[in-house]
Amino acid sequence: MQPTVTSFHHAGTGTWSHVVADPATHAAAIIDPVLDYDWKSGRTATAAADLIVAHCRGTGLKVRWILETHAHADHLSSAHYLQGLLGGEIAIGQGICSVQRTFKTLFGLGPEFQPDGSQFDRLLDDDSTLPLGNGSIHVIPTPGHTNDSVSFLVGNAVFIGDTLFMPDSGSARCDFPGGNAAELYRSVQRLFLLPAGTRVFVCHDYSPGGRAPVCESTIDEQRRNNTHIRDGVDEAAFVKMRTERDATLDVPNLVIPSVQVNIRAGRLPPVEADGVSYLRVPVDVFGKPKK
Ligand SMILES: [Fe+2]
Repeated sequence: MQPTVTSFHHAGTGTWSHVVADPATHAAAIIDPVLDYDWKSGRTATAAADLIVAHCRGTGLKVRWILETHAHADHLSSAHYLQGLLGGEIAIGQGICSVQRTFKTLFGLGPEFQPDGSQFDRLLDDDSTLPLGNGSIHVIPTPGHTNDSVSFLVGNAVFIGDTLFMPDSGSARCDFPGGNAAELYRSVQRLFLLPAGTRVFVCHDYSPGGRAPVCESTIDEQRRNNTHIRDGVDEAAFVKMRTERDATLDVPNLVIPSVQVNIRAGRLPPVEADGVSYLRVPVDVFGKPKK
């Protein structure tokens, strides 16, 4: 089965979400959908998610899966919202439990939050397979950016999350809790073993140099041209580059709301006695101390 892929760019966070479908049966998976969130007002919105709803309904897709490549730190997931409208099971790599334990501590979450992955419908084992119409989705473990990161191979298309960016933009940071640059290097080497013509879909593009945002390359293009990891770059050189670069990066704008929602599969925290859902802001926890 060679899938059709429709991609959606979220300008506010530079995120690419994808809908991958079996053209014969119209079975579909939504990958890394975004929930709009305004930090200043604390308001969510569903404009980005509703574009995916309209696409799925308009083309008669039957949503079987809503997949997360990892617990994102830069945008909120609309998985829960989409499931309410389109159905499907929400799935993420089994490494999410470790991510949940880490962030339960960092955010001081209470006993209502169990770091056992139970917020998701399915936890994905490394190298497991999910059905999609006449084909399947192969789960490739690709830790490094985070330790729950996975990639999804569907026919000749692979959805790599934040493992690599477009070739001119390199690779994702590895300095979040559980991140590891050497692991990321090895994950990329595994992706590089895919056939050269495999279509590669990224989760982010930040339009370097003002070019239009794009989301698709090939394994061959990445192996030849990726500015951080390409054929001939060894692990030690990559780890040095990545570590030095990460030391210069500020925390993502939406890390505080994103993580709290994404470890809950796109749900807001439970409403409190007044009927309002609250996010927590741990003071002097994230980022580097200001001098
Ligand atoms: Fe990420």
